[in-house]
Amino acid sequence: MANLLVTGGAGFIGANFVHYWLKEHPHDRVVVLDALTYAGNLASLESVSGNDAYRFVKGDILDKELTTSLIAEEGIDTIVHFAAESHVDRSISGPSAFVDTNVVGTHNLLQAAKACWLDSDDAPSTHRFHHVSTDEVFGSLKKDDPAFSETTPYAPNSPYSASKAASDHLVRSYLHTFGLQVTTSNCSNNYGPYQFPEKLIPLMIVNSLEGKPLPVYGDGSNIRDWLYVEDHVRGIELVLQKGRIGETYNIGGNEERANIDIVKTICAMIDEAFAEQPDLVERFPGAPAANGASTESLVTFVTDRPGHDWRYAIDATKSETELGFSPSQTFESGMQATLEWMLGNEAWWRAVMDGSYREWVATHYGGNTE
Ligand code: NAD
Ligand code: TYD
Repeated sequence: MANLLVTGGAGFIGANFVHYWLKEHPHDRVVVLDALTYAGNLASLESVSGNDAYRFVKGDILDKELTTSLIAEEGIDTIVHFAAESHVDRSISGPSAFVDTNVVGTHNLLQAAKACWLDSDDAPSTHRFHHVSTDEVFGSLKKDDPAFSETTPYAPNSPYSASKAASDHLVRSYLHTFGLQVTTSNCSNNYGPYQFPEKLIPLMIVNSLEGKPLPVYGDGSNIRDWLYVEDHVRGIELVLQKGRIGETYNIGGNEERANIDIVKTICAMIDEAFAEQPDLVERFPGAPAANGASTESLVTFVTDRPGHDWRYAIDATKSETELGFSPSQTFESGMQATLEWMLGNEAWWRAVMDGSYREWVATHYGGNTE
């Protein structure tokens, strides 16, 4: 039995991890620490809230006293560190929060882990600090460049990726200097249930349903590798189970797509869904698909993101051969699952977007999120 501390567990990937872990590892305990920033939604954890193996603590990874006491009191032996500021556009308009949470916050958590696991008489017999990072630390690729491998030099271009790169280096240093048992995974772009609708895929789905413009940055030629979120979660599980201490593992979907192709795929899927499900016309009367028009008519090319990385691609050979990782979803099946989830969970994304889920939290938790 393991005692996990999952930071950022109320965010997109963290919430998917918590759902998965409690289902697949019913004998483990999962303590979530999350500051509930704009990106953290307790509603995403509603279905596990009655589970005795789960506890939610509202708190900041910058709070040294809280993180240290939580690890000690809960007998935490495994930290899975998701908490971060994660949106590139926000890192351009307000980089400081990225340095605070991603760099200083990660360092704080490392210090807390070191205090409880290396400097304490009550340390658990084994421990693991798993750091969840991104492929964006490797910078930008040209068309024919080989995909990022674990040995690709770091070359971050945005305040987001620079702050994640800094945190990756700090994690590494805590093994080499102090002996903390760390692993890191660098993953490509995720999509799926519970993703905040400011990121490309959920934003395009919501705007398509509401008949709002679909803002494509630049000419839409930028390429990302896409992975269905549960496959990322399974990749992290494999690193926890089989990963070698001190190693980093690239996790990816082998699904490179240009942004404009993603947006066109979403448009076609929505047109098809409206043709097959007549109730959608009543539910989303503002959608072009409800009015005999094509969703693609909403595509609007807008000013490019400053310093926009052109291409990311992941070489996941190491995870495949060492850990036995392979994605279970193709891009097509993952997108279908995502659209179905969005159509089936309208209340979730509406509440998240207008902030009213915070009232929901207050009613369900009486203002006390612990
Ligand atoms: P997210 O923005 O959806 O969630 C982040 C969570 O962290 C939120 O619940 C937020 O409340 C919490 N948080 C933020 N600051 C905090 C603080 N100071 N203390 C405690 N909690 C805090 O992010 P996500 O998309 O789920 O990403 C999770 C992790 O995975 C991040 O580290 C990110 O860099 C990494 N990652 C994301 C992707 C992706 O495509 N989304 C891809 C690769 C790696
Ligand atoms: P995003 O989901 O923000 O992830 P990241 O920047 O971390 O890769 O964006 C994915 C791609 O989609 C990226 O190339 C920027 C582009 N994009 C748009 O074209 N329009 C949008 O409204 C958004 C949010 C992103």
